[in-house]
Amino acid sequence: MTSRNTHPATRCAQALGAIDPPTKALVPPLHAATTFEREPDLSYPQGFSYSRNDAPTQRAVEAVLADLEGGADALAFASGMSAAAAVFMALKPGDHVLAQATMYWGLRKWLIEVARPWGLAVDFVPAGDLGALEAALKPGRTRLVWLETPANPTWEVIDLAAAAGIAHGAGAAIAVDSTVATPVLTRPIALGCDLVMHSATKYLNGHSDVLAGALMTARVDPLWAQIKEVRKGLGGILAPFESWLLLRGVRTLFVRVRQASASAQAIAERFERHPKVLAVLYPGLASHPGHEVARRQMQGGFGGMLSIRVKGGQATAVKVAARLHVFKRATSLGGVESLVEHRASIEGAGSPCPPDLLRLSVGVEETGDLVADLDQALAAG
Ligand SMILES: Cc1ncc(COP(=O)(O)O)c(C=O)c1O
Repeated sequence: MTSRNTHPATRCAQALGAIDPPTKALVPPLHAATTFEREPDLSYPQGFSYSRNDAPTQRAVEAVLADLEGGADALAFASGMSAAAAVFMALKPGDHVLAQATMYWGLRKWLIEVARPWGLAVDFVPAGDLGALEAALKPGRTRLVWLETPANPTWEVIDLAAAAGIAHGAGAAIAVDSTVATPVLTRPIALGCDLVMHSATKYLNGHSDVLAGALMTARVDPLWAQIKEVRKGLGGILAPFESWLLLRGVRTLFVRVRQASASAQAIAERFERHPKVLAVLYPGLASHPGHEVARRQMQGGFGGMLSIRVKGGQATAVKVAARLHVFKRATSLGGVESLVEHRASIEGAGSPCPPDLLRLSVGVEETGDLVADLDQALAAG
């Protein structure tokens, strides 16, 4: 096993250094079994009985994910949405939860259209406004505060240590969608948060070929036990092949995120004062309202996601996206290839996203090619 004294990047690259005992293979095997033999005394000495509950390839990737976030345990899910939903479904009807007005739109929609009718009292507060968060907490009733930082797609930065203090003061647990920050840049558990969620579809896998989610916990407690029950009941566990692919993809997480962050920073600086650009939204810019918090909270870069608001409104934004060649027009983020998306038309009515905004997911291509692509697309407008 890779020493616990090494940097997380080393342990991640070596997938904790686990060697397959029978073969001495450096790459973990893929176990497809759904069922496992019992001992004559009916015990399961390896702890595996049926793969809807738990399984070896999933455990292998969960160990790496728990280590990455400094968590006591991790659970792999079939998608980021199923990981997030499991947290809310572990609560009881009538429980109060707080989430951000700006966050991954799919989860916000699910909270409004599914969680509320199901009985959760869900309120939204402006992203990054800790005063509003404190005022909206109902001590004794608020069970969970759900945060996302940087917040999609305008990238507000939330001070996690301060938010955790506020939530805990009211008796609420705090969960963070850390998909965009990644454990390379921010480790919410070390900042006092209780749960971390990832759409592992994004940076953790990094190759746009696996749909996956993950939850990490600061401690194994009754809420975590209930989340495990929800996953087991719904069969939300990640499948073996996807677990194996995720384990392969995650090994290059640090180099991918560092490269994407460096390019995103260069792009943000290059286009901030461009005559065709209204604003660049990126926590790595000194002009960003969350920059000071981000400097404290994000180590080694500000991530690969940024948004450009173009002058001329929605029509110009759509035309600029149409002229890009290196950036591909596609949804999602966190892959090795750079993507552009006009979020307002994806999110539809009720979206808080400005219509002139183009969201960029910066990949690992040559920085100069990405800059030149944006340059020519904006210039032609
Ligand atoms: C920040 C964030 N959280 C959660 C999700 C949902 O994850 P998935 O698509 O893996 O279900 C996404 C997907 O776009 C996301 O961007």
